[in-house]
Amino acid sequence: MKCKVFLTSTVYSDTLSVLNSSHFEVHMRKDDEPVLTEEDLIRIAGEYDALVCNISNKITSKVITAATKLKFISNIAVGHDNIDLDAARKKNIIIATTPGTLHRSVAEYAIGLLLMASRKVSTHQYQQKTEGYPNWAPTYNTGLEISNKEIGIIGLGQIGKEIGRMLHFGFNSKIYYLKNKSVPKTDYKITPLDKNQFFSRMKFIIIACPLTEKTKNLIDDNELNSIQNDSVIVNIARGKIINQKALLKYKNKFRGIGLDVTDPDPLPLGHQILDDPNFFITPHIASATDEARGEMIKRALKNVYNYMHLEDSNDVNIIN
Ligand code: GLV
Repeated sequence: MKCKVFLTSTVYSDTLSVLNSSHFEVHMRKDDEPVLTEEDLIRIAGEYDALVCNISNKITSKVITAATKLKFISNIAVGHDNIDLDAARKKNIIIATTPGTLHRSVAEYAIGLLLMASRKVSTHQYQQKTEGYPNWAPTYNTGLEISNKEIGIIGLGQIGKEIGRMLHFGFNSKIYYLKNKSVPKTDYKITPLDKNQFFSRMKFIIIACPLTEKTKNLIDDNELNSIQNDSVIVNIARGKIINQKALLKYKNKFRGIGLDVTDPDPLPLGHQILDDPNFFITPHIASATDEARGEMIKRALKNVYNYMHLEDSNDVNIIN
């Protein structure tokens, strides 16, 4: 019998060949169809053997509990906080993700946002396009250099390490990280700081850790209170790692706040922080390059092929 696979979004057609028609029956949604609801996902979990989804699909415990057929979920993402892992574990449903495919794109974007928040590129562009610019003046609208600075990274996994590498070798930055249990290995110098030292010393902070119960609201009133005036913060991980209400309270301390992720994610139009000139906000697109998205999709489909057809878990990025 063929393995039935449901793809919640459209993928590049040349990547689909791995799920060949002799072994797989594939249903792929078009991106202009209405967003899938929990009810839709419950139905799909009862009809398909494998699901290829992404961070905008909430795979709740209700979806998983209702899964009479589903055995495998392949998330086109490195994060997996859109999936209820406990529920999946209880049901023996395997979850796989796509590490190793997007760290370069995300790191480049994080540095782009760091530059954006430090130099306010989009503000100047907007002003130039809408009001025109007054004459060049020596003290007008200055930003901050990032070269040779101390930069603190929260989360030195594959993405955080790549950000540090690019900053170290490209900008001669001194890389610090928020100390936790593991000691990351890098080919450049990194210095751990405990929480108090990290937030009171780092004037450039980049968040690159996964969202877990431990990292939710990791940056809250206390941390924001100890951050120095005129700092720059960038989040390319998950919005809920910063308490956004607290961030609004302390926003004027910052030279710039670059957020590719927010709470909620994406933000609805008209949200308060969209109008604030200190916030530089983009809609969770740090991995959106032709290169990374192509690799992420290929990896996600290969995970399905290897696990469901070859029945070989070795080359499948299983996380549960
Ligand atoms: C994107 O945020 C991902 O987790 O891949």
